[in-house]
Amino acid sequence: MKVIEPSTPNELKRYYELRWRVLRAPWNQPRGSEQDDQEHGSNHFMVVNSRQTAMGVGRLQFNTIGEAQIRYMAIDTEQQRRGIGTLLLNTLEDKAIELGATRIVLDAREHALGFYRKYGYRLEGPGHVLFNTIPHVKMSKTIE
Ligand SMILES: CC(C)(COP(=O)(O)OP(=O)(O)OC[C@H]1O[C@@H](n2cnc3c(N)ncnc32)[C@H](O)[C@@H]1OP(=O)(O)O)[C@@H](O)C(=O)NCCC(=O)NCCS
Repeated sequence: MKVIEPSTPNELKRYYELRWRVLRAPWNQPRGSEQDDQEHGSNHFMVVNSRQTAMGVGRLQFNTIGEAQIRYMAIDTEQQRRGIGTLLLNTLEDKAIELGATRIVLDAREHALGFYRKYGYRLEGPGHVLFNTIPHVKMSKTIE
């Protein structure tokens, strides 16, 4: 298992496919709905196995010079709770720090709150409700 930054058309195809499959398909959202207008300026990471199969994906964007935001964390449903999310989160945080972040924010799906809390993210308050069904919470972590 290793983390790569998807860049070739094939890698990017597998990257967005997994994001769509985990975060959009279960709510009958069309392909393409997993992307937004900030893909180009963001940093993308993908965990792959020895056969180059995508197992987890996540994105880092900057909202201001010091504030990074983690978005679209998605681990293959069959591969959750095996440490892949932790590996990705560590990679995203390292990148955020390397690029000068002093604070990392995210909007967590409520059911994933415990995962981020375990790694030092503080609950800030309620967030948006996606597709009228998925409540989010706002969380943040200050970089020491
Ligand atoms: C939430 C998610 C990113 C976590 O990734 P993961 O690979 O399953 O997590 P890890 O195996 O690295 O978990 C590390 C620890 O975090 C905790 N944890 C993981 N998922 C958790 C959850 N949903 N709730 C509470 N704690 C959780 C566990 O304590 C786990 O330790 P354990 O191995 O002792 O159980 C992943 O489950 C996922 O993609 N879920 C579906 C999509 C989603 O909700 N994405 C987040 C959008 S904000």
